[in-house]
Amino acid sequence: MTLQEIPSGAFRERCIPVLETERLVLRAPQLGDVKAVAMLANDRRIAENTARIPHPYRLADAEDFIAVANSHGNETIFLITLRNGTPIGACGFTQIDRHPPEIGYWLGVKHWGKGYATEAVRAVIDHIFTDTDADAIQSAARVTNPPSRRVLEKCGFQWSGAGLLRIRAISSSAPIDRFRLDRGLWASIKAWGQTRRVQA
Ligand SMILES: CC(C)(COP(=O)(O)OP(=O)(O)OC[C@H]1O[C@@H](n2cnc3c(N)ncnc32)[C@H](O)[C@@H]1OP(=O)(O)O)[C@@H](O)C(=O)NCCC(=O)NCCS
Repeated sequence: MTLQEIPSGAFRERCIPVLETERLVLRAPQLGDVKAVAMLANDRRIAENTARIPHPYRLADAEDFIAVANSHGNETIFLITLRNGTPIGACGFTQIDRHPPEIGYWLGVKHWGKGYATEAVRAVIDHIFTDTDADAIQSAARVTNPPSRRVLEKCGFQWSGAGLLRIRAISSSAPIDRFRLDRGLWASIKAWGQTRRVQA
């Protein structure tokens, strides 16, 4: 079989790693995830805090999302599942030209407040700095979204500026804070974590 003959879904699964954390598994979304993604994402509180998620979010939106996920070389999308396989949300990163990769994430509302987003984002950060030569990672959060800002801070991100982001669900732009995590700081955080584990 030549590269061109490999079905796109199979090719995506070959390219996207599976990231495992203590409580989560991050993997490429598949067609079988459509219903779960549609149910999880259909909440205005998610749409209004992300750039591209529409509201209401229908089955067709989930189908479109999964059909194109990981089909562009500059975008890596993971479905976040519990270790028993239950989908709880998604996260990923885009890398455009020479800009640092930009991380985005969302969880179904019933899974908020349990530390899952921080655990998932840490896994994606480790993947980026381990498996790519990126010097930094960027992200952004609406100024009205303290939980997202807190996730970024817990992962080591530092405030790097302010701006505006077009939000599809509100058909408008909204003020955001931008955040950045440099490779050197990430390496220090990892080394500090390892030292503490050895001492414990
Ligand atoms: C942002 C989001 C992913 C957070 O998911 P989560 O799993 O609940 O996040 P975590 O539990 O890992 O961390 C949330 C942190 O925010 C804190 N927090 C929650 N509500 C808060 C508030 N109103 N003010 C300040 N901090 C708040 C929590 O206490 C926790 O911090 P702590 O561990 O120091 O106590 C989730 O709310 C979400 O999907 N929101 C909609 C989409 C979105 O905003 N995506 C991010 C786009 S930038």
